[in-house]
Amino acid sequence: GGYLSASAGQASINVADTQPAQTITILYGSQTGNGRGVATELAAKARAQGYAVNLASMSDYKVRQLKQETLLLAVVSTHGEGEAPDDAIELHKFLASKRAPKLENLNYSVLALGDSSYEFFCQTGKDFDERLSKLGATSIQPLVECDVDYESAAEQWQESVLEAVKPLIQTSGASVVSIAPSVAESAYTKQKPYTAEVLVSQKLTGRDSDRDVRHVEIDLDGSGLSYQVGDALGVWFTNADTLVDEVLIKLALDGDSPVTVGKDSLSLKQALIEKKELTQIYPGLVQGWASLSGNEELLNIVEDKELTRHFVLNNQLADLVANYAVQITATQLLELLRPITPRLYSIASSQAEVESEVHLTVALVEDEHEGTARFGGASQFLAQAEEGTTVKVYVEPNNHFRLPENPETPVIMVGPGTGVAPFRAFMQERASQGIEGNSWLIFGNPHFEQDFLYQTEWQQYLKDGSLTRLDLAFSRDQAHKVYVQHRIAEQGKELWQWLESGAHLYICGDGERMAKDVHQALLDVAVKFGAKTPDEAEAYFEALRSDKRYQKDVY
Ligand code: 2AM
Repeated sequence: GGYLSASAGQASINVADTQPAQTITILYGSQTGNGRGVATELAAKARAQGYAVNLASMSDYKVRQLKQETLLLAVVSTHGEGEAPDDAIELHKFLASKRAPKLENLNYSVLALGDSSYEFFCQTGKDFDERLSKLGATSIQPLVECDVDYESAAEQWQESVLEAVKPLIQTSGASVVSIAPSVAESAYTKQKPYTAEVLVSQKLTGRDSDRDVRHVEIDLDGSGLSYQVGDALGVWFTNADTLVDEVLIKLALDGDSPVTVGKDSLSLKQALIEKKELTQIYPGLVQGWASLSGNEELLNIVEDKELTRHFVLNNQLADLVANYAVQITATQLLELLRPITPRLYSIASSQAEVESEVHLTVALVEDEHEGTARFGGASQFLAQAEEGTTVKVYVEPNNHFRLPENPETPVIMVGPGTGVAPFRAFMQERASQGIEGNSWLIFGNPHFEQDFLYQTEWQQYLKDGSLTRLDLAFSRDQAHKVYVQHRIAEQGKELWQWLESGAHLYICGDGERMAKDVHQALLDVAVKFGAKTPDEAEAYFEALRSDKRYQKDVY
């Protein structure tokens, strides 16, 4: 049909000659849900325009289908040092492997999500774009790289990609109305969160602890919101009044002056409290500040990527304000600052136990800076919340952190620090099902006396048999450090038996070092007790991962 003829300027675009392309395949690779969100939105828009859409996580996508595709739109994020999100690992590797087929009939476009504070910004997205092109596929829209405030760039990509699709693909015409988004969507989303009330915010750690970890309970009653264990809660927070006052005073700006942010007219103070990210800064802001201040030290820092990266991780806006004097207007300041973004917390409860509540385990992010205490925005907000404080929340599903379908399947849960949160949810869920499969928790924190989070609950589960084993690594209760991976090594023989008997293995917590060290300990267990070579051990855990028996929720 005529709709297939490519318009001028798009002459090189692939058009399937015999069969018109019927379906837009939209794939996402997403660790925190942003990629999934953008892909789901795109799918809804495409369906509203009458296109047939196949929307899937990259991890659920069968690579052998790739040869049949004519139109692929991919949204993929990048983590840490240029790493692919867990659900994209397999496809990412496959496209670079010898097994990857020629994709000369494929049209595609990639949206890359990332964080420009990292050196390998949007690397996974770049890889996808490059690999698809190398395999002979045709890009219908150049790669778009988005920073943490990705919303508007993502929206532009969605619009332009749907424009580019028009000449290539048939819509289902008259049936437009009957095609609605098929994904069950909650009434409350990241952009339209639910305003909930905090019921409890209480300290879990002892008074002499170096850490301040809180147990927070939030009321979802009447919202219709539901969640599964393994999901995360997105929390919108506001910046502390005192922090905003400090910034305003040092910059000699009037908090009452009227400003506009997007569609909102409000006072400068209100804008800084509600709309802007103050506790996490980014390289562009430091660059802007360096040129405004003309400060030699700061100018040197922004010359060097590594120094800049280090600087943004260790400073907040208030530190810039305190240490590098500038002349700045309210408008300039608002332009330099990024929009505030919600934080995700792994949910620490099961609705089987707590019904319409949702519980979180929140570590207060604290840092002392030249005598001044600095806090993480969301964790301070939650730590200071009182009964009745309102908080805007939404549920971020995480299909990559799920209990086994069969409650008889054993589970091994490795969760030091606040990484224990989803395992409290897992245990509530499993206990509510009656005691079936074996459960093993490996927990660690600095001190037994101060930092044994939810101690009485674990002991109760041990007593009633819901928890089969509990291994503890209190790192600072003896001269040398003892970490969860040391317990794994010590219990290697038994752990191997659990794995061989079909146990699912979960890791939650710090992704920078802990999850990597634990992974190495697991490899060693497979070598020592499974008689594997190091390569076979890697392959063993890779297979577990792809069977969804080895899942991580790391940050
Ligand atoms: P540390 O702070 O005494 O070094 C939760 O944060 C627990 O994880 C703490 O006991 C912390 O110990 C420990 N931890 C720190 N680095 C770790 C690593 N690389 N692997 C495992 N646990 C680690």
